[in-house]
Amino acid sequence: MNKTVEPAVIGSAVWQEVGKPHFHESAVLHVTGEATYADDVPELHGTLHAAFGLSQKAHARIAGIDFSAVKATPGVVAVITAGDIPGVNDCGPIIHDDPILADGLVQYVGQPIFVVVADTHANARRAARKAVISYQELPATLSPRAARAAESWVVPPMQLRRGEFERAYAAAPRRIEGQLHVGGQEQFYLEGQVSYAIPREGGMQVICSTQHPSEMQHVVAHALGLHSHHVSVECRRMGGGFGGKESQSALWATAAAVCAARLKRPVKLRADRDDDMLVTGKRHCFDYDYAAGFDEEGRLLAVQVDMVSRAGFSADLSGPVATRAVCHVDNAYYLPDVDIRAVCAKTNTQSNTAFRGFGGPQGALAMEYMIDNIARDLGRDPLDVRKLNFYNRPGQPGRDVTPYGQQVTDNVIHELVAELEATSEYRVRRAQIRAWNATSPVLKRGLALTPVKFGIAFNVSHLNQAGALVHVYVDGSVLVNHGGTEMGQGLHTKVMQVVANELGLTLDRVRVTATDTSKVANTSATAASTGSDLNGKAAQDAARTIRRRLAEFAAERFGGSADEVRFAASQVHVNGQAMDFAELVGKAYLARVQLWSDGFYATPDLSWDSATMTGHPFYYYAYGAAASEVMIDTLTGEWKLLRADVLHDAGQSLNPALDIGQVEGGFIQGMGWLTTEELWWNDQGRLMTHAPSTYKIPAISDCPQDFRVRLFDNRNAADSIHRSKAVGEPPLLLPFSVFFAIRDAIASLGDYRINPPLNAPATSEEILKSVEAVRTAARTAGAA
Ligand code: MTE
Ligand code: MOS
Repeated sequence: MNKTVEPAVIGSAVWQEVGKPHFHESAVLHVTGEATYADDVPELHGTLHAAFGLSQKAHARIAGIDFSAVKATPGVVAVITAGDIPGVNDCGPIIHDDPILADGLVQYVGQPIFVVVADTHANARRAARKAVISYQELPATLSPRAARAAESWVVPPMQLRRGEFERAYAAAPRRIEGQLHVGGQEQFYLEGQVSYAIPREGGMQVICSTQHPSEMQHVVAHALGLHSHHVSVECRRMGGGFGGKESQSALWATAAAVCAARLKRPVKLRADRDDDMLVTGKRHCFDYDYAAGFDEEGRLLAVQVDMVSRAGFSADLSGPVATRAVCHVDNAYYLPDVDIRAVCAKTNTQSNTAFRGFGGPQGALAMEYMIDNIARDLGRDPLDVRKLNFYNRPGQPGRDVTPYGQQVTDNVIHELVAELEATSEYRVRRAQIRAWNATSPVLKRGLALTPVKFGIAFNVSHLNQAGALVHVYVDGSVLVNHGGTEMGQGLHTKVMQVVANELGLTLDRVRVTATDTSKVANTSATAASTGSDLNGKAAQDAARTIRRRLAEFAAERFGGSADEVRFAASQVHVNGQAMDFAELVGKAYLARVQLWSDGFYATPDLSWDSATMTGHPFYYYAYGAAASEVMIDTLTGEWKLLRADVLHDAGQSLNPALDIGQVEGGFIQGMGWLTTEELWWNDQGRLMTHAPSTYKIPAISDCPQDFRVRLFDNRNAADSIHRSKAVGEPPLLLPFSVFFAIRDAIASLGDYRINPPLNAPATSEEILKSVEAVRTAARTAGAA
């Protein structure tokens, strides 16, 4: 049963470790190279190394494979194929359509067909290339729109309707319609996918770089034909996950485990960057058909968005990603009559998956594009049209229910945007930029201010639960284990702060260990930005239990009431006496007081009906806004972000230093998605951008010289951990402002009257095309 009633809080910590800008708990280890990643764990004697053999065809039957050259390669110990899997040949997270190794049929270029196990990583890779595979090619579907036309999808199409779009659209005084394409994105975690499988008595241990140890435990157990209690999965940290290790670490975990089980030796499987990019899924690219009806001021009356995403060859998380996209088309705006549709198109490409924002950015971007168009059509400043459409403030009646039926009760976008508009000097700079552009024939400046509203919680209600285990050792030191994983975002630091806070300890007394399925069971992925919301609450619950026991013991031993026992600065104050926390703990141990506890948390008040796409899927919303100024070169398509002002709502921040880091990182990562990061497949379905040489993520030189990031002073209206707000994903939507600033700069060429056609990513090539289109349209208009 869920603990809906919190246990009485006995004893109190007059101590504040939360809210302080502590360093990331591994900051020093990160910069000195001492932080242990999966590949750094000392290898056991007899460890072997594995490499995948990959499909060279997008869609084909495998007629036969000649492994003789592979087996003759020095160092090769075994070749493992689908037939060697003792359990189920599947590693799919929800729908079981994800073979670990292709069994007769390949569905994309890069799909693993076999594993070579050898004495070294290099030998395994070298040998894997030597297989001679004969294929019978089948027609491949490479375009999501073509797949949809053929009714080929990985999950049933979705639709969310409110009101009567057709009637409202027909009756609207003004209308727009059009198409948009937004590209996908490679997660580009610095540490690639890696798993190290170690046979253990009766089962398997897997050291895995994963956001979801419990899921890895399940898929490994299924693949080996074992039960969950035979398999343990451990992750100390990831060198970045960004969603790419939510489900797709499963391929590496299961393949390594199958090899290890078969050979009864430890096996490590890690990906080279090119293979990692060829094999794993990415952010879904989206194609949109949109239509909107609005009034003369730009107030939205009817909105229709028809989205098709590139799911790839299997379902993976495409359904949930599309659901979140549907739930974020509104972004910060009230949409009266809506018709939102989504199809997850089945294509012969990598199976796309989670990526920071999880479809939310793709949903919201379509709406922002429409608003941008509407503003230009009306000759209004886009910011004015945005503000006009914001959800009402709490307390103002009406215009506060999302298309999926959740009431927005915590809206702060009006205040937040007003503050940013003032501090960024948006209006003054807008005028300056117009004047500057009038005198600059080649270089053009652009400015945009865009808002974010992002729903926090897993759409699937039952995933919103977490557990933690807090151990207080006899010397007073504290070890915390919880279900969340550390990928650089600082989750462990925040959980340490929460526990230190509850026990009145300085942070150095608390450590968090590796995430381990044998410590906390049935955990959810560290995803949907809920890591600290869920695990912070669970750890708090455990720490409070221990504090209550210690307070009761202290009062019994030293007199006074348990309620008056105070924990602060690693000291305990009881009935006029003070002692070190360790001293009290030592005495409690001798008195046989239980000094460790579990803790549990389930987010309250959530519901979701996937059939109607309505309910109360989010616990609360996180808000933010950014104003970006760019300069583009209309001859080369090059551009530069000159200045970005960001104001983001992290509620009562658990750790402002980490949160600012998340905001900055999310901003730059989102900017890469919308500008330079381009995934390109050739007409054979081969991903040609599979290394940093051809795939351009932002570098330090792409960060704006003038980058003003601040946290908005707010308090979560929901009873979240210390009234903080999740901050992992929402900032990824802030650089919409960069994309629309580029569009604004291009629009200057048509005197801000022509809507530049601009797909994302706005690469230099795309910018040049748009510049040409606007110039041509302006000439045509001038001639008419
Ligand atoms: N920050 C870093 N440094 N590395 C990451 O891999 N992943 C992001 C975000 N911030 C990520 C990151 C994603 S996709 C999510 S869902 C959240 O962190 C997960 O962590 P949280 O729930 O603890 O915020
Ligand atoms: Mo984050 S995309 O929810 O892992």
